[in-house]
Amino acid sequence: MKEIVERVKTKTKIPVYERSVENVLSAVLASDDIWRIVDLSEEPLPLVVAILESLNELGYVTFEDGVKLTEKGEELVAEYGIGKRYDFTCPHCQGKTVDLQAFADLLEQFREIVKDRPEPLHEFDQAYVTPETTVARVILMHTRGDLENKDIFVLGDDDLTSIALMLSGLPKRIAVLDIDERLTKFIEKAANEIGYEDIEIFTFDLRKPLPDYALHKFDTFITDPPETLEAIRAFVGRGIATLKGPRCAGYFGITRRESSLDKWREIQKLLLNEFNVVITDIIRNFNEYVNWGYAEETRAWKLIPIKKLPEYNWYKSYMFRIETLEGSRGYEDEIPEEDIYNDEESSTT
Ligand SMILES: [Fe+2]
Repeated sequence: MKEIVERVKTKTKIPVYERSVENVLSAVLASDDIWRIVDLSEEPLPLVVAILESLNELGYVTFEDGVKLTEKGEELVAEYGIGKRYDFTCPHCQGKTVDLQAFADLLEQFREIVKDRPEPLHEFDQAYVTPETTVARVILMHTRGDLENKDIFVLGDDDLTSIALMLSGLPKRIAVLDIDERLTKFIEKAANEIGYEDIEIFTFDLRKPLPDYALHKFDTFITDPPETLEAIRAFVGRGIATLKGPRCAGYFGITRRESSLDKWREIQKLLLNEFNVVITDIIRNFNEYVNWGYAEETRAWKLIPIKKLPEYNWYKSYMFRIETLEGSRGYEDEIPEEDIYNDEESSTT
């Protein structure tokens, strides 16, 4: 194991542990599909690739017909007692913990409205979640008391959550902003079709500080940040800055596909120490993303040893819910003009 870990360290700056190698081997025992291995191992994609390449160079795996253990690899997993990774996700809720049947009509209407939605743009790091995920978010927020007669802010709305919120008729008021005019126009058109009036729609770059009319006026926010610490500070921090005060709520996704647990610890420090909020929920793989059209232009594609497009939605993120308390604060400063979309662990931009 030590030899493998040392070799991985020469290939990547992402922290690697024996446990990381164990997770990847466990996933290889369960599947020969590169995307499924990343999904099951729950290690960042560039680290999974570095581990697989090391295992390949040392003769433990082959890439000939998918990712497979060699005889030497079989001996390794037997020696360390590594078993295959199982996926016993609840088949009723798909691990989302909420019952989609409760809002079955809304899901139907939502699907109909979003079927001509704008497709994801590489330049804005866009990738949207499945309609089931968007509607599950509405249900989740409702069960936590964060929607009914509340003022909701949606910061970045590639997922068209604002449309599902309008259809629910639950919020008192919705504000939504996105950098992409195609999306804000689409949401505006949907609002007209639905006949919903209590919505404010802005085309806005979240790297800029929010204007006064957005600050300290909302009960709940939702956002889906790119996964660098800087982007999380910008998106989640601005979300918190829109909230009225203590005991308001925020929702956002954080993935294992592009963030190591070392980065997770930094993210949690940011939330607890800098923003001074409390984490109330973390729901594993709640957000499921539809495969985006620009996959072959991404770093992930360059990295993977087997060039094969994903055949299922491998990219998921955990849903975080935070709540503000006395002394919580957001982030209202300008973000420096640098690349906030990429770090060592990212791969889908
Ligand atoms: Fe369930």
